[in-house]
Amino acid sequence: MKLKKYAFCTKSEKETFHFGVQLAKNQYKTICLVGDLGSGKTVLSKGYASGVGILEQVTSPTFTIINQYEKNEFTFYHMDAYRITNEEMLYDLGFEELFDKNTCVVIEWADNIKNAIPSDALWITITKDIEDKTIRYFIIKGNEKQIEKLGESRLC
Ligand SMILES: Nc1ncnc2c1ncn2[C@@H]1O[C@H](COP(=O)(O)OP(=O)(O)OP(=O)(O)O)[C@@H](O)[C@H]1O
Ligand SMILES: [Mg+2]
Repeated sequence: MKLKKYAFCTKSEKETFHFGVQLAKNQYKTICLVGDLGSGKTVLSKGYASGVGILEQVTSPTFTIINQYEKNEFTFYHMDAYRITNEEMLYDLGFEELFDKNTCVVIEWADNIKNAIPSDALWITITKDIEDKTIRYFIIKGNEKQIEKLGESRLC
């Protein structure tokens, strides 16, 4: 399937959080985040959690690998694949069971496990600006329908 691209940019942590909220409201169910340390993957994930109505505090799953949050009959899984080194680890984590009609999943460092990711995921690569410490660029890849929902590309 041919994927399409969309470009976006934020100028603050708050804007990135808000972008995460919008992604949840637009019902993207699997979001894969790629980007250096401190690029804003967790900030975006927190926004997403807020957008699906999670009220409890969302913390980085760096050590737990997967954090789970419940909202009514719905589950939000927040995963950090940084330390996943083989497929057996994914199997032990029950990775395939994360994807269900009543779940949504955001995965930081998803490029580490890219062969295991469902084909309908939205991929977001985040890059820091080389001069301005508060600017982040987002390149988003998805199928035609997913990209259309995002509207016009916008760069700072
Ligand atoms: N436009 C922006 N969007 C998001 N975060 C920003 C922005 N500008 C500055 N920041 C800062 O960048 C940091 C992003 O941290 P965050 O924990 O989200 O990164 P991360 O990509 O999850 O890192 P890690 O790989 O360690 O998990 C925060 O300290 C935040 O305040
Ligand atoms: Mg993080």
